[in-house]
Amino acid sequence: MDTEVLPGTAPADPLTMPAGEGWWRTAVIYQVYVRSFADGNGDGVGDLTGVRSRLPYLKSLGVDALWFTPWYRSPLADGGYDVQDYRQIDPRFGTLEEAELLIAEALALGIRTIVDIVPNHISDQHEWFQQALAAGPGSPERERFWFHRGRGEHGAGIPTNWVSSFQGETWSRTRNPDGTDGEWYLHLFTPEQPDLNWNHPDVRREHEDVLRFWFDRGVAGVRIDSAALPVKDPALPDLPPGTAPAVDHPHIDRDELHDIYRGWRAVADEYDGERVLVGEVWLDDAERFARYLRPGEMHTAFNFGFMTQPWSAQAMRDSITRTLAEHAPVGAPATWVLSNHDITRPVTRYGQADSSFAFERKRFGTATDAARGARRARAAALLVAALPGSLYIYQGDELGLPEVELPLDAIEDPMHFRSGGIDPGRDGCRVPLPWKGEAAPYGFGGAPWLPQPEDWGALTVEAQDADPDSTLNLYRAAIALRRRIGDLVGSDLEWLELGADVLAFRRGDGTLSVSNLGAVPVPLPAHHEVLLASAPLDGVLPPDSTAWLALRAVLPRSHPAPK
Ligand code: GLC
Repeated sequence: MDTEVLPGTAPADPLTMPAGEGWWRTAVIYQVYVRSFADGNGDGVGDLTGVRSRLPYLKSLGVDALWFTPWYRSPLADGGYDVQDYRQIDPRFGTLEEAELLIAEALALGIRTIVDIVPNHISDQHEWFQQALAAGPGSPERERFWFHRGRGEHGAGIPTNWVSSFQGETWSRTRNPDGTDGEWYLHLFTPEQPDLNWNHPDVRREHEDVLRFWFDRGVAGVRIDSAALPVKDPALPDLPPGTAPAVDHPHIDRDELHDIYRGWRAVADEYDGERVLVGEVWLDDAERFARYLRPGEMHTAFNFGFMTQPWSAQAMRDSITRTLAEHAPVGAPATWVLSNHDITRPVTRYGQADSSFAFERKRFGTATDAARGARRARAAALLVAALPGSLYIYQGDELGLPEVELPLDAIEDPMHFRSGGIDPGRDGCRVPLPWKGEAAPYGFGGAPWLPQPEDWGALTVEAQDADPDSTLNLYRAAIALRRRIGDLVGSDLEWLELGADVLAFRRGDGTLSVSNLGAVPVPLPAHHEVLLASAPLDGVLPPDSTAWLALRAVLPRSHPAPK
């Protein structure tokens, strides 16, 4: 596989690149879910030693940056999104020293590091929350959170009717040291994740310090978890019955958030090498979404709209058009995301009759056509890699891993439990990666913390390395081409009309991406050469496939022949 990079595209020390280079505008960013990536010490849990040993693999994939889901000390009540101490690595994952080594070693390979910051809440084991519980009602320690008396004479009524993102109630009642019922505290997620009070100066100062702590260690950016949630209306009003209002919601997308992120941007801008802010912003309203990307705020935000679309040329085209239109006024690049650690794997999603994604529709036992899903996931991977903007790849998607339907007693995700067991939760996309061999643990390390399926032998990195047509080699080729073809770097995109089921566009003046989302083969438009295809072409574009076409000679002859 030719993964050679043209001169000048990979500076030796990316963090000292001149400002304005805009690496993040077109970057390919690989999401590492540390717990499930590679286990270096054989305890069945992925760790930093494991990641360090696999850096050559990530280099061979060709990615520009790694985004690590939280690796800090945590009780893992929500997979690490319950941070106990931002300045320590969880002992199951390694040490701070190892994180520093990892950041430096990746950088030496031209790969930047992005860490995850979770401003909405911390762990109930964090010293602030423990201090708040101990200090009791009315104490300054409690002001960093949302402690509140319950409704009614004895305070037994829940303070607001807000609904958790994980279903269920958003308040839990504390007990006083004398055993009597105490105040309630707010948690938009689990009770182990108390919400912070962002009106409190300590909260703001501490997060800016945490940013500096990690920027000082060479990280190139932060992913901001649940970025539209941290600020609350201090009056704590109930939500009106029916649909939630688009603006002036008591805990979603409040205007005060922008000042916080402008503060974070100022911190990032104190550093050289373009340290970036990437927001996890789930908002339907395009204008409200784009406000987070105004100059002086975040650099980019995850575009979840495309990910939720069904397998339909029209729906996907509309979503792409909408995405580009909503980013244009603020001058921010779009991001393209097919999945992450919260989302059903594309191979499975696209193999289901309803191939759109919505959390509330996840069910056990949904019928899935695995072969079709695998074809479509490959086609989707090429489609998004041809779009203008930056690209996110969730670990294992490059191997075409399916969602795993886990045995009930293996599931740890609180989303499953809070749904009363109806929703399988998100662990099915968090199963440890298969590296080699024919049986579990497939070179992952020790017996994996989530069981791997018995039929993953053909999906291992080792097996796919050896197969020129594998999904892994398709990803490698696509990423390498993105770097080589100047047409794919700009922000332009022009649609081509090739039929209702065909999603086709031109990038620059010489590169086409053509996807067939229909049921019958379609002719390829006139072209000079096929650059890459997700399926064998035989002169036509088969259903569920994407091809990249060049209108003129663009590649040195040494490039591997397209299939
Ligand atoms: C984000 C994370 C998710 C986590 C939640 C609460 O949505 O991606 O995994 O459970 O925030 O922190």
